Amino acid sequence: MIDLHSHLLPGVDDGSRTVEQSVEVLVKMVASGVTAVCLTPHHTVSRVARGVPAAHDAAYAALTAAAPQGIVLHRGVELMLDRPVTPAVKEEPGLTLAGTRYILVEFSRLVAAQAAANALHQVVQLGLIPVLAHPERYKSCTPAVVAHWKSIGALMQLDATTLLGGRGRAQRARELLAHGLGDIMAGDNHGDDRLISLAHHYLSEAGGSFQADLLAAKNPAAILEGGELEPVPPLVLKAGFLTKLKRLLEELGEEE
Ligand SMILES: [Fe+2]
Repeated sequence: MIDLHSHLLPGVDDGSRTVEQSVEVLVKMVASGVTAVCLTPHHTVSRVARGVPAAHDAAYAALTAAAPQGIVLHRGVELMLDRPVTPAVKEEPGLTLAGTRYILVEFSRLVAAQAAANALHQVVQLGLIPVLAHPERYKSCTPAVVAHWKSIGALMQLDATTLLGGRGRAQRARELLAHGLGDIMAGDNHGDDRLISLAHHYLSEAGGSFQADLLAAKNPAAILEGGELEPVPPLVLKAGFLTKLKRLLEELGEEE
């Protein structure tokens, strides 16, 4: 599996605070079958002209020196589209996912559907492919709105562990899955327990192993290779799945 959204570059944003904390997560990722992760600290279009902060390079050097074997650390950012993008976004090195044409972007939670569509279109116009982080988090997110965002050329990154939650954004994430609108899933790990293997496991349990492999492995690999993604077929989680999931999660908790 490959996790393309994480806040494990230590001490630079609201994610992991220390190298030790990040290494602890990386060890868990390796044990759970993750072979590559992209470090995507928060960044904003309004700060792009100043470049990627030097602190990021120092944190990356410190982390790579201490990282466990068995996992490749790629770099990128999670770019808040807080103002219209300029060509500097394409020219500035280090913003896209592992240097590809794919770029992880986000909005504030209350973004209007059309404003988001316009901003995504601007990114596409630059010749980049926006990968929208956690669309389920935005209040304006509906399957119809997301279908429109995708028709513009954006890809949708669902937060893996959100899929296992109760209502609200979790329900919206599962609706996107049910409509075949997710492209990849990622952990959005902030130095905590958010592992994509959990979601992969339980989607597989629910009869969605084909979709789970596409979301967690094949499509993220295609992004790293700069290739094309495969559409993820609709996955409707069966009634009773959440009850079963809750029980399995409890069992897992007891084992630890
Ligand atoms: Fe994030």
